[in-house]
Amino acid sequence: MSDLAVVILAAGQGKRMLSKLPKVLHRLCGRPMLDYVLDAAWSLNPGQVVGVVDFEGPVADSFRNRGARVAFQPVRRGTGDAARIGLSEVQGKPDRLLVLNGDVPLLRPGTLRKMLDLLEESADLVLLAAQVLNPHGYGRIFQRDGAVRIVEQVDATPEERRHCLINVGVYGGRASFFSDALPRLQSDNLQGEFYLTDLAPMAGPGRCRVVELQDVHEAAGVNNRAQLAQVEALLRQRKNREIMLSGVTMRDPERTYLDWAVEVAPESLLYPNVILEGRTRIGAGCTIYPGVRIVDSQIGEDSVILDGTVVENSVVGPRSKVGPMAHLRPGTRLGARCKIGNFVETKAVTVGEGSKASHLSYLGDAVIGRDVNIGCGTITCNYDGVSKHVTIIEDGVFVGSDTQLVAPVTVGRGAIVASGSTITSDVPPEALVLTRAPTVVKEDYASRYWEGRQRRPSGDGATLEKRSSTSLVDTRDPEIG
Ligand code: UD1
Ligand code: CA
Repeated sequence: MSDLAVVILAAGQGKRMLSKLPKVLHRLCGRPMLDYVLDAAWSLNPGQVVGVVDFEGPVADSFRNRGARVAFQPVRRGTGDAARIGLSEVQGKPDRLLVLNGDVPLLRPGTLRKMLDLLEESADLVLLAAQVLNPHGYGRIFQRDGAVRIVEQVDATPEERRHCLINVGVYGGRASFFSDALPRLQSDNLQGEFYLTDLAPMAGPGRCRVVELQDVHEAAGVNNRAQLAQVEALLRQRKNREIMLSGVTMRDPERTYLDWAVEVAPESLLYPNVILEGRTRIGAGCTIYPGVRIVDSQIGEDSVILDGTVVENSVVGPRSKVGPMAHLRPGTRLGARCKIGNFVETKAVTVGEGSKASHLSYLGDAVIGRDVNIGCGTITCNYDGVSKHVTIIEDGVFVGSDTQLVAPVTVGRGAIVASGSTITSDVPPEALVLTRAPTVVKEDYASRYWEGRQRRPSGDGATLEKRSSTSLVDTRDPEIG
């Protein structure tokens, strides 16, 4: 077992968040804040990680799900008390202990390693510090003649508050130093809490070392939702930079929103206000236009997703085109070279290579073959009020516009469905099917109709209004009514 143990402090709701959700479970780029801290902790290959929580619940579960043990601090008595409780849960006798705050999520593993290296060189305690422009809310670190002390915001004098070297909230030390010093902390401060920061002056002379951050952004802590947004913006910068350096163009990286696990292959182009969530993967050479949101989906290479489209739990094959304003709901699987156009909604549907539904359709619970043309306004009527039924449209079928396919129904290979049809039974391959009322044409009927009503429509607003309030269907005329 490694001689290093890590304790992560995460008890309490985080009052300043004003939230039902515990602070450390608030999300940053689609993932709980705590997971970033756990990543940093495990990246050091410690023998164990212990999380301090206030009660059995979702935060405890999050720790256990990531292989950490859990210690309970039922009453908030300060970070010093929390660290002492965490240490009591540490198994065996590790040499070194690292204590992290659960609400400081941007720390890089390299930074933590540097601190631990310094610990090797004759120190009891190593603190992480950052020189910031706005230190408000943080503890301030003061160093004098080899002694270090930290003053919390609330306890600081106006002069101390002007000091800009802040305590990041990371503490590396000999485990023996912690177990000796933690029980000796006092709570004689304005908050009546046991401050972990009071360990600094308890180290031997010259034995508390301070490591200053190169990138002060790593210090950002989250106490309220404004800071949550700031930290997310920093994470987004990191993520977007990484993606751009891997060969992806973003027209405006500050307005491009990728969750932490999203992958985008090179030569793709992302327009502003694109939101890629969850485990989304975008293939090479794709273009994603503004206002598109893609959740847990895969887009094949060289595909184009046009403006305002939503894609959820779906797969889009290569060289396909989707949108604008399309909605691919869960379970949509498009093959290669498909086209799903304006205002088309799909759900639980498989679409074969080269098939198209270009305008205004609903395709749900359907299996659609290759090279099928779905005309404008086609609807798969999949729901009878109780159950969902499947529509099967085989290869090469041509479905004319304004067709309703009342499921369960199969349209055989190569068949043609004439526009305006309502299909209620299976159509054999290569057939033409149409269900239409015969067209009735009555020459000159319109003028006679208006004469009968003693009024013709005109550009005059009053007349038009009058007319629209009367039904065009003249129930006195048996031919029309
Ligand atoms: C703390 C530091 C401050 C530092 C800042 C960095 C102390 C006294 N102050 O202040 O010097 O600049 O972090 O972000 O340590 N927690 C518990 N139990 C408790 C109290 C807190 O587990 O009784 C946990 C919280 O869940 C949180 C972390 O400890 O994750 C820090 O607590 P918080 O109240 O946010 O401390 P800050 O005021 O930010
Ligand atoms: Ca904090």
